[in-house]
Amino acid sequence: MRVLVTRRWPAEVERALQDKFEVTLNATDRPLSRAELAQAMGEYDVLCPTVSDKVDAAVIAGGPRVTLIANYGVGFDHIDLAAAKAKGIAVSNTPGVLTDATADIAMTLLLMAARRAGEGERELRDGRWTGWRPTHMIGSALKGKVLGLVGMGRIAIATARRARHGFGMTIAYYGRRPCEPAVAAELEAEFYPSLHTLLRASDFVSLHVPGGAATENLVDAEAIAQMKPGAYLINTARGGIVDHDALAAALDSGHLAGAGLDVYPHEPQVPAALLGLENVVLLPHLGSANAETRIAMGMKALANVEAFAKGAPLPDRIA
Ligand code: DGY
Repeated sequence: MRVLVTRRWPAEVERALQDKFEVTLNATDRPLSRAELAQAMGEYDVLCPTVSDKVDAAVIAGGPRVTLIANYGVGFDHIDLAAAKAKGIAVSNTPGVLTDATADIAMTLLLMAARRAGEGERELRDGRWTGWRPTHMIGSALKGKVLGLVGMGRIAIATARRARHGFGMTIAYYGRRPCEPAVAAELEAEFYPSLHTLLRASDFVSLHVPGGAATENLVDAEAIAQMKPGAYLINTARGGIVDHDALAAALDSGHLAGAGLDVYPHEPQVPAALLGLENVVLLPHLGSANAETRIAMGMKALANVEAFAKGAPLPDRIA
């Protein structure tokens, strides 16, 4: 089976793949163009893309050879599942193994935004720090504050555990339905059936819904207007969920005290309106970026390719 891996993967995973299949790696790590991806659909049996590859209907039409798209990553809004399905192409992802890493980044952003860590570091490195004083760079405490989670999947629950058990925050969430009673009880989490009521009740809001058409601009100007004055917005999910012009306006006016973002609608571009603002922490999509997690993601993608090669059910089939 011919397998194409579109970006560099951890070396141990690349070796494990090479031991089992005829693999083309991307030694330079240059993102492939849409034309190259489309061409690959006709030349390989398995495509292993990641979030930086847009595998849309036009790319998929480049087939017919690829019969498995084994995505490296849990999110799959960059893959047109309907187009893949129509061509009989199976699609898998890598859920579960990046839950803790992503929850860690959500807490990193929350803490950095609340305690003005990015702003403080910039001040110090620029030589503008004049020394300790009681009124210097005052942020917000976390204890007793309401963390409102939008979506209550694995990553949201892992974030809530950190916030509740580690930082004494109160947990609220909005989702399609209440989470498992045992989880709700453990977190003493309150369910809000409407997004806007959750936003009105939260001091910190953290986004954990999938990207794609259904959640495009879910957090728009109207939603941001519902947020408490002085609240914070954290996004480790997908950039398209937030209207960044509306967010920048709310940060600039002081309606929101701060934000922490790891994802953007057109990565690697970062909305220009945010770059000049001190009260937003901007990370370069680091949610799953620790060595253990990136290896586990690769091994999970490999397990799906192996199952596919044996004709066995895919462990993480999404289409
Ligand atoms: C994912 O897996 O979807 C992440 O965004 C990439 O780590």
